Amino acid sequence: MQFNFAAASLKVEAGSLVVAASEGTVLLPAAAKADKASKGAVGRALAASRFTGKAGQLVEILAPAGLSVNRLIVLGLGKAEEFDASAAQSAAAAVLGRLKGSNETAVTFDLEGLKGAKVAGADLAANLVFGAKLKSYAFDHYRTKDLDERLSKLTKVTVLTTDVAAAKKAWAPLDAVAEGTYLARDLVNEPPNVLYPAEFARRAKALVKLGVKVTVLGETQMKRLGMGALLGVGQGSERESQLVVLEWKGSRKKTAAPIAFVGKGVCFDSGGLSLKPGAGMMGMKGDMGGAAAVIGTMRALALRKAKVNAVAVLALVENMPDGKAQRPDDVVTSLSGQTIEVLNTDAEGRLVLADALWYAQDKFAPKFVIDLATLTGAILIALGGEHAGLFSNDDTLSGQLAEAGKAAGEPVWRLPLGKGYDKLIRSKIADMKNIGGQHAGSITAAQFLQRFVKDKTPWVHLDIAGVAWQDGEQKPLIPSWGTGWGVRLLDRLVADNYED
Ligand code: BES
Ligand code: MN
Ligand code: ZN
Repeated sequence: MQFNFAAASLKVEAGSLVVAASEGTVLLPAAAKADKASKGAVGRALAASRFTGKAGQLVEILAPAGLSVNRLIVLGLGKAEEFDASAAQSAAAAVLGRLKGSNETAVTFDLEGLKGAKVAGADLAANLVFGAKLKSYAFDHYRTKDLDERLSKLTKVTVLTTDVAAAKKAWAPLDAVAEGTYLARDLVNEPPNVLYPAEFARRAKALVKLGVKVTVLGETQMKRLGMGALLGVGQGSERESQLVVLEWKGSRKKTAAPIAFVGKGVCFDSGGLSLKPGAGMMGMKGDMGGAAAVIGTMRALALRKAKVNAVAVLALVENMPDGKAQRPDDVVTSLSGQTIEVLNTDAEGRLVLADALWYAQDKFAPKFVIDLATLTGAILIALGGEHAGLFSNDDTLSGQLAEAGKAAGEPVWRLPLGKGYDKLIRSKIADMKNIGGQHAGSITAAQFLQRFVKDKTPWVHLDIAGVAWQDGEQKPLIPSWGTGWGVRLLDRLVADNYED
């Protein structure tokens, strides 16, 4: 798909033209112009379809009389004072959604002139394109049939704006974030026979071109280091476990301590010997959604040359049952030296994260560490698909993430940690066990992780089991299964707080 900006004076004569009205059917300039050219047909169409200009309303007029475009789309933008960047993204996405099943190849937006809006000019143009790009993602590599009906015909999105150069400048960093989100979605959507740890690591190597240093540790190296918790999870799989380390040095101070991200990368979670039932196993190709979000963020940071030093550690394994698989009752020794009684092999995410978290802190002494993981089914019960769960030992970092989440449209909700919960993971024979009791499952998982966080490291754990993928099209900017959740959030956290 091509995304362009063009001067507001451009006369649009082909494809679909998108114009707008605000609440109370107040036509913006381009809509008024189209109404005039059509001798009032636009106004009649709006009246006939109960259009009032509320946000989200959309009227499609095909082959409009007096205009040479194939289609005029009138968008409702709602109240000017509520029309912000995120509303602009959703508005553009709604149009792309509508055109998906049509024969249209080109669409042009002309939405300038909403007085008093929170987003306008170059920022408006850039955010329209951002929404269009996020929405136009598709994962179709494995389709061979009915492509003519299934694939979108749209190849060109143009936004008219008064300052093309400024719009391009505002778009560049958003394009980087969209690209990072695309990468994360691709990885989550890939089937697990294709995307196993070594293949994930190969794809990570593609970031070298962008100036990211990529190091891959295999099982021999991890054994030498003592990563018994991570290796225990992978030992029932034919596929070799991998630890991928990504380093981006964008800060002017090359030696400044980096910020660190850690991602759970369980390329498939069968549960291991504590096997999941069939229905619960479906979708577990997405159990590497944390690692996907983290590598997507690194791609975004590198593409936009973010002025920050950042490292990412991806813990890539496959959790399978096998003669060699880890047993419930096994005791493993983690990289930190602490021992873990593995009572349920399906609580594997915390085991791989234990070693990845320790490695990240030990090797890089980061400013903070944030881990992302599709860690517990319990977080879906608590928060559904609307928020990710946030757990932390640091109020400042938590607050920054809460703000970034609201601004970027990926909100988080903080849940408590505490000594009482920590008691629930005491083991009879080792330093801890890998499951708590029946209750507070997301919290006991987070307590487990906290045992691998050094006291002085500000740490956040994001449980993204409810947001990493979705069934159907529930959210305005997300067309497909893998959401790429986390890339927009982390990029925003960095942009607003951690760049030179
Ligand atoms: N990957 C799952 C969590 C999950 C469940 C993600 C549903 C997305 C949707 C994780 O490894 C897991 O199996 N967790 C167990 C933990 C339990 C055994 C303590 C769970 O949530 O049931
Ligand atoms: Mn599991
Ligand atoms: Zn899992």
